[in-house]
This record gives sequence, structure tokens and C-alpha cells, in this order.
Amino acid sequence: TRALILVGGFGTRLRPLTLSCPKPLVDFANKPILLHQIEALVDAGVVQVILAVSYRAEQMEAELQLHAERLGIELIFSHENEPLGTAGPLALVKDKLQASSEPFYVLNSDIICDFPFKQLEAFHRNHGKEGTIVVTKVEEPSKYGVVVYDEAGAIESFVEKPQEFISNKINAGMYIFNPSILDRIPLKPTSIEKEIFPAMASDHQLYAMELSGFWMDVGQPKDFLTGMCLYLTSLRQSHPEKLYNGPGIVGNVLIDPTAKIGDGCRIGPNVTIGPNVVIEDGVCIKRSTILKEATIKSHSWLDSCIIGWRSTIGRWVRVEGITVLGEDVNVQDELYVNGGQVLPHKSISQSVPDPQIIM
Ligand code: GDD
Ligand code: MG
Repeated sequence: TRALILVGGFGTRLRPLTLSCPKPLVDFANKPILLHQIEALVDAGVVQVILAVSYRAEQMEAELQLHAERLGIELIFSHENEPLGTAGPLALVKDKLQASSEPFYVLNSDIICDFPFKQLEAFHRNHGKEGTIVVTKVEEPSKYGVVVYDEAGAIESFVEKPQEFISNKINAGMYIFNPSILDRIPLKPTSIEKEIFPAMASDHQLYAMELSGFWMDVGQPKDFLTGMCLYLTSLRQSHPEKLYNGPGIVGNVLIDPTAKIGDGCRIGPNVTIGPNVVIEDGVCIKRSTILKEATIKSHSWLDSCIIGWRSTIGRWVRVEGITVLGEDVNVQDELYVNGGQVLPHKSISQSVPDPQIIM
């Protein structure tokens, strides 16, 4: 089988990280978001993945081709001259998608869950209609595409980002379609959520499959951290051996083997620490992601933050409140940073008591 992943968009909501790295390549739990998805597709038997991108990113392409070789799949980049939305990219590769009559997967590139691809395919073949979308339950449905369906899963209506409450069942951003969907999609900027799904629903050609387990769109810092917590909880169930154990480790913690952890630290719950990170003595970290090659100097205290690649946190620093440091940021000793979004290569020499963007 085949899959198309929608990788367009500039990832502005995940700035400042996306100023240095395209969103799908930002490490989530020590692995690029996109690789979580591609590996799950490969596990479900996918051998060809099309990445629909609306900008060129040579760095991303080279890095991903290496992974494709390792996984033994064909990776195709489909470039848009103008952003084609969430449906237009399918029309752009119509020939490839129509090369076989088998159904294919489509997914958004910023979602994390226990991907249910095998189950999705079985459900889809069983009802025999044109498309199936995976749905999940959320507390704030207005940020998403809301789906109304009957007991069998037949979708009655699909409303993207509704103003008024309709239901708390939402589009999880994972689909499987028969190639006949391509007859509905013009080669121009088109929203699958606003233009294609409502039409398929009124033709009784669209079904919903409920997701079991956790789900998160990790395209913004707050949700990225929430998603990390849920992912680690799930990892505890499925692969507890991947989590780290040792003195001073609390709850679910993922630490790359090349990271160095000092004495007297307290790390966790819900922390991921990337390759070559250095954590000095007496550091306390909770609910945070520390990206590759960052250094946290002694006696610092971090809660709910994302520390960018190669950044340095001085001694006795306190960082909290969904602070996101871009690449190579330096925070001097003894400062307090609360909810700061700090652009790459900045040096912080004064405390940041309230949430703000530092450029
Ligand atoms: N190739 C390409 N071209 N991809 C695009 C374009 C484009 O012009 N525009 C958006 N995308 C990609 C994004 O990179 C992302 O992977 C996906 O399409 C969805 O776009 P988002 O900007 O992340 O949309 P959203 O999060 O507001 O809403 C979507 O996802 C929700 C679930 O997370 C919708 O599909 C909702 O219905 C859904 O509930
Ligand atoms: Mg999104």
C-alpha cells in the first residue's frame, strides 16, 4: 500500500523551533515527528510514501532519504508551486495515486497517537465506501474538524472549526481513500475539510472510525508538551524497556544513551532528553523536552519547557511556563524565564518574568 503525508505549511505555531528546522523534522520524544508516522506506516505494510510539500527543504529531503533507505521504502517528494491546501496535493500526484486501484492512506504531519493503520484498512474494506477518517474525542472541538456520524460510523456531517458546539468527536487527521476520491479534487488550492468531506458525507461515501488510546496535534508548544506526556504514558505500557531508570529518575523519562546526567539530579516525570545533552549536577527537570546537544548547568530548575538544539542554561536558572528556546540560545546564570519564546542565537541576560517573544 501507499501513503501521502501533508507536510506543507510553515509551522508558525511551533516557532521558534521551526525557524531552524521544518516542523515534521522537529524531534518529538527523540525522533522526528514525521518518522513516528513513517515507521508506523511501514509497520502496516506501506512501501511507498509521498510527501506533499509546499516549500523546498533540501536538508529535510536528504535526511529523510537516508531513513527511507534504512526502512526499505520508496520516498517521493511532491513539490507545490503554490500551497494547494489539504486536498490539492492529492490532485498533483493523481497519476501516482491512480497507478493502483488499492486504497491509500493520507495523513496530517503534526499528529501523534498509537497509529491504527491496519485496523483502519480493515474497517475501510469492510464498509466498502470511498473514504474513512479516524476520529477522536477532545475537550475543545472548535480548533478541529468536527464529525457527526451514526452507530455504524456513516458520517452525516463534517464541519471544519465550527463556531458553535456540534459534537466533541473530531477529525484526527488520518484517512484512507479509494482512488475514486481523485475525481472530486481539482488541481488548485482546495481544502479537503471544507470542500471534499462535506460532499462525500452527503453522498454517503464517508465513514468514521473511532481511535482508541491517546491522540494529539503537536503543532504548538502547549500541545507538544501534553502530547509528550501522553506518548510517554503509552510507551510505559507498550515498551517500558525504552524508558530510563536510575537514581533520581521520577516517572516516565526518555534519555538518549549519549546524554550525560550529573549527580544529585531529579528528572521527571515526563521528560525527554536528546543526544549529547549535558545535564550538570543538582538539576531538576519536569515535563520538558531537551533537544540535541543542549547543556543545563548545575542547580537549574526546568518545568514545562522546550530547550532548543545546542542551547545553554546557566547555573541556578529557573525556566517554566511553556518557555520555548530556539536553537543555540544562551540563558545566563541565576535568571528566571517564564513563558518566553526565544529566537535562535539569542543570549538572555535579564529575567523574563512574563510570557513574551524575545527577538
Ligand atoms: N502540502 C501541503 N500544502 N500541506 C499543507 C498545506 C498546503 O498548502 N496546508 C496545510 N498542510 C498540511 C499541514 O502541514 C498539516 O500537516 C496538515 O496539512 C493540516 O494542516 P494544519 O494547519 O495543521 O491544520 P489544523 O491543525 O488547523 O487542522 C487540521 O488538523 C486537525 C487535526 O489535527 C484539520 O484536518 C482538522 O480537520 C483536524 O481536526
Ligand atoms: Mg495541525
